Amino acid sequence: MIICKTNEEVELMRKSALLVSSTLTEVAKILKPGITSLSLDNMIGEYVKDHKAIPSFLNYNGYPFNSCISVNDVVVHGFPNKKELKEGDIISIDIGVILNGWHGDHAYTFAIGDPGKDVWQLILVTKQSLYKGIEKAIVGNRVGDISFAIQEHTEKYGYGVVRELVGHGLGKNLHEEPQVPNYGRRGTGPKLKDGMVLAIEPMINLGTKDVFTEKDGWTVRTKDGKPSVHFEHNVCVRKNKADILSDYTPIEAAEKENVNLYISF
Ligand code: MF3
Ligand code: CO
Repeated sequence: MIICKTNEEVELMRKSALLVSSTLTEVAKILKPGITSLSLDNMIGEYVKDHKAIPSFLNYNGYPFNSCISVNDVVVHGFPNKKELKEGDIISIDIGVILNGWHGDHAYTFAIGDPGKDVWQLILVTKQSLYKGIEKAIVGNRVGDISFAIQEHTEKYGYGVVRELVGHGLGKNLHEEPQVPNYGRRGTGPKLKDGMVLAIEPMINLGTKDVFTEKDGWTVRTKDGKPSVHFEHNVCVRKNKADILSDYTPIEAAEKENVNLYISF
């Protein structure tokens, strides 16, 4: 069953999504070569708890950290660790919170130093594809319209669209119906209704779409070892235009300010 949220509930979910946005903004301010993802994860846990919320990934199906931090060929669900980040690394940071009983869950990929032209384009195109998907998250469309828009935009560049992991409904639970694949056919899948809240999250590979899960049971990597990018927004389905509950504006401002992060257009 797909649960539609009331306007009041959507406003509570906006608060949850925006807490994730501000947590990602704090991370964007301090990212630099030499820092470890484990130190970022600790900071993320403290920040979320300081804001009266719970890091929702911790202990979810046994997941052992506050956040997922996925570097280079790690697609998603990377374990924060003690390895120092270096120039040219790309890093996807995925954070979930429960605030007043409502989930926020979103992600952003940063480049620490210049990752090279091909990888930078992968970052830009993956972010663009997220917005192409969001444009389709309107009443009367179907989930497949979102999926198709993401797949069409990214495959145009020859990128691999990950099949094994998908976006999802979001609410009082981290994962609700419907599933929102990043590949699919127009006009297929569940009908979108006013008040549905979706986590749309393209996971796009520079090379092959094929991935594998490491022995730790979580870390998902590309089969060919090439980099992968992940962006995620929380959006509410509305009549003519989706309402994006999370916000990249402060994250992008911090990214621009931080000389250790690569930006080019
Ligand atoms: N954004 C991811 C998702 O929606 C994060 C889940 S990680 C987990 O599935 F640890 F919570 F499983
Ligand atoms: Co998600």
